[in-house]
Amino acid sequence: MSNILVTGGLGFIGSHTCVELINAGFTPIVIDNLGNSEVWIKERIEKIVEQSITFYEGDCRDKELLNQIFTTHAIGGVIHFAAHKAVGESVSEPLKYYENNLGGLTAILETTQKHNCSNLVFSSSCTVYGTPDHLPVNESAQIKSAESPYGTTKIICEKIIQDLFAADPAYKAILLRYFNPIGAHSTSLIGELPLGIPSNLVPFITQTAAGIRESLTVFGNDYNTKDGSCVRDFIHVTDLAKAHIKALEFLINKKEGTCEAVNIGTGNGNTVLELISAFEKVSEQKLNYSIGKRRDGDVEAVYADAKKSKELLGWEAKISLEQSLLDAWNWQKTLKK
Ligand code: WQD
Repeated sequence: MSNILVTGGLGFIGSHTCVELINAGFTPIVIDNLGNSEVWIKERIEKIVEQSITFYEGDCRDKELLNQIFTTHAIGGVIHFAAHKAVGESVSEPLKYYENNLGGLTAILETTQKHNCSNLVFSSSCTVYGTPDHLPVNESAQIKSAESPYGTTKIICEKIIQDLFAADPAYKAILLRYFNPIGAHSTSLIGELPLGIPSNLVPFITQTAAGIRESLTVFGNDYNTKDGSCVRDFIHVTDLAKAHIKALEFLINKKEGTCEAVNIGTGNGNTVLELISAFEKVSEQKLNYSIGKRRDGDVEAVYADAKKSKELLGWEAKISLEQSLLDAWNWQKTLKK
């Protein structure tokens, strides 16, 4: 039962999770349509773990392919990463997001049911909290209407899994609500590969430091926070990857059905300006940045109440913000300009 289907396994979080799965004695079976990932990431994963991995190039909406995979391999669990994730694009192309993110999930769920396989770890996001009423935000906070169609897909996907659990109480699933993943593998062999101009903060910072972008704009310094810039909970991708292993082990060991949402964050909030100054310190260079207008849809402050992940899964973040930024920078330096 140690084969784990990893959809989107060559992506940023997926690739780091494949490494941690192997480190923990599982066998990842990867399906990825290369829509937002590169096939050479597979070789990089193999280099880190010194073994080959099974890879299917395909889309997880392809039920025939999913059936083939479940028939060929005894699948003991699924980690479902594959989804579109660009918040801005989801506003201009909402149907692309609903079609892919919801269609991918329902195809996966249908296949797991057909093959009597449960143990689903789903990639959700703190975006489901919108602007939280209380900080740190815990899992029982009200799920607000999302700021973007991307966020709405995460809310609906969570609901679909909860509805399936209500109909099939033996089903076992964990919904991991990620905060802001950053960093890269300590070997600098895998990391984030943003398509085009990054919309996320850390890749924009590292590309600016590398001279690919001229200057970073800080979106607003008039928020009600300690220095006026937004507050986020930045978590190292390796810590995040390890949370998936803990979630999977929890599900495998659990006798009865379950469906729990769990925050995966550090529990600490840092402002955008604090992050920039930490980056300048670890990279030993000045970053070219200026203060600009607020970005539409940005939440002023959000960071995790990280109690449940510790109590339920026995997981907590370990890697510091400084180390995360150094790893992101070291990875950036391996990429061609
Ligand atoms: C962080 C902070 C920006 C870029 C989004 C999604 C979320 C998740 C992660 C996942 C904000 C500021 C950014 C820049 C800036 N998605 N910023 N200048 O918005 O917290 O979360 O990505 O797949 O669901 O909503 O992350 O990295 O875009 O921004 O000042 O050039 O950095 O305003 O305060 P965000 P982010």
